[in-house]
Amino acid sequence: MRTLLGLDVSTTGSKALLIDERGEVVASHTTPHPISQPFPLWSEQDPADWWNGMVASIRAVLAQTGAAATIQAIGLTGQMHGLVCLDERDEVLRPAILWNDQRTQAQCDTITATIGATRLIQLTGNRALTGFTAPKILWVREHEPQVYARIRHILLPKDFIRFRLTGDHHTDLAGAAGTLLLDVAHRRWSDTVLAALDIPAAWLPKVHEGPQVTGVVSEESAALTGLRAGTPVVGGGGDQAAQATGVGAVQPGIVALTVGTSGVVFAPLASYAYEPDGRLHAFCHAVPGQWHFMGVMLSAAGSLQWYRDTLAPGADFGALTDEAEQAPPGCEGLLFLPYLTGERTPHPDPLARGAFVGLTARHARAHLTRAVLEGVAFGLRDSFELIKASPAGVIHEVRVSGGGARSLLWRQIMADVLGVPLVVTEAIEGAAYGAALLAGVGGTVWPDVQTAASEAVKTGARVEPGADAGAYEATYQLYRDLYPLLKPAFDRQAAL
Ligand code: XUL
Repeated sequence: MRTLLGLDVSTTGSKALLIDERGEVVASHTTPHPISQPFPLWSEQDPADWWNGMVASIRAVLAQTGAAATIQAIGLTGQMHGLVCLDERDEVLRPAILWNDQRTQAQCDTITATIGATRLIQLTGNRALTGFTAPKILWVREHEPQVYARIRHILLPKDFIRFRLTGDHHTDLAGAAGTLLLDVAHRRWSDTVLAALDIPAAWLPKVHEGPQVTGVVSEESAALTGLRAGTPVVGGGGDQAAQATGVGAVQPGIVALTVGTSGVVFAPLASYAYEPDGRLHAFCHAVPGQWHFMGVMLSAAGSLQWYRDTLAPGADFGALTDEAEQAPPGCEGLLFLPYLTGERTPHPDPLARGAFVGLTARHARAHLTRAVLEGVAFGLRDSFELIKASPAGVIHEVRVSGGGARSLLWRQIMADVLGVPLVVTEAIEGAAYGAALLAGVGGTVWPDVQTAASEAVKTGARVEPGADAGAYEATYQLYRDLYPLLKPAFDRQAAL
């Protein structure tokens, strides 16, 4: 049987996932890697840890299966936005600066002032956010000029793995869109943005569509990993585009909702569009010729995790959510704001803070837990409202995955608050699975990404909006009003 390999360099580990041509998982192995936060706001990793971890994971999968000869192609995915700087000998110049690093607000302000907020959104589909790649490049120029002077190549994390596998400096369009340097509409680097920011175009990797073959495994990396030299490697995609591919959100109307630590609403688009205020990200999809809108909530299941660890340590998530059913929808006036780690959509604000609002002596733990579940659903609805008002607004189906989708109560609350049916989708292997499907298209197992998804992706239970849906409406409107009301207090708290 032919097989496909998906490689995912995530924030926590390097994963190798082998699937067969029916989409069944054959083997999977993840090697964890450390993260370094040497100063407040900084978040860095050593690219050598990614590569060493990936070599170990590939070797582990091949040792379990002996499948090197059956692998038709390899797909790459990984954490987006991270900056890897290489010198003229392709040596790594400094630790990679990651997507969740927050040091670049001053550089974001410079980019916005240089290009103009509206023009920047028109050109790149996005606002300048601290996580994105372009402000990181400017930060290195300002703070480490000796490093900047030696840069010859810039790569994203998964493209560093591609470089070590194939020797090529290439990337995919979905990942490239997260740099703030891509002309997202025309699917090529933006000469205008590069010139305005004075970043040499020659540093940037060549861009490819997700299923397109970008190179082959070299003799050297074959010897290291046990892979077959000459195995094709496809473009793949940033982790969100690959995750969406892996749940079958590969055509307009099918929205992917991922309730992990963060909450992501991903809506495919048939033609380029951007949200005029840049509150939604507008990126290229890993599906050729498609784009997508994306809303990102920073603490979704992360809110429940914090709540459990802090206020009910040791409690079982299932027991907590069962208890939450004792509280009525709307929690008798108790609301939770989930901005525990700041927010991205719809409030791109690192200073936003979490809150319980409306506590009274009547409220028990069941109310507090339910308020967390409802607050996260309200935050996701903010993204849905923006998507509904956009060209991606006709939604036929929402495919939900991630740890937060395991609770039936939470799924029902989300279906009620969002006003859409949710279909549970098997996505335990996450973005690596989507990367393997993209490899299947480049490796000619499937003719296109839609066929790959329809043959491989398995959907499960469906939850319809129920009788409680109407009961949330007034509470949601109150929730929407709370951030603008509390914003001055959040700013004052930050100043303190
Ligand atoms: C996407 C994003 C995260 C990272 C890390 O915009 O910031 O998904 O890619 O997973």
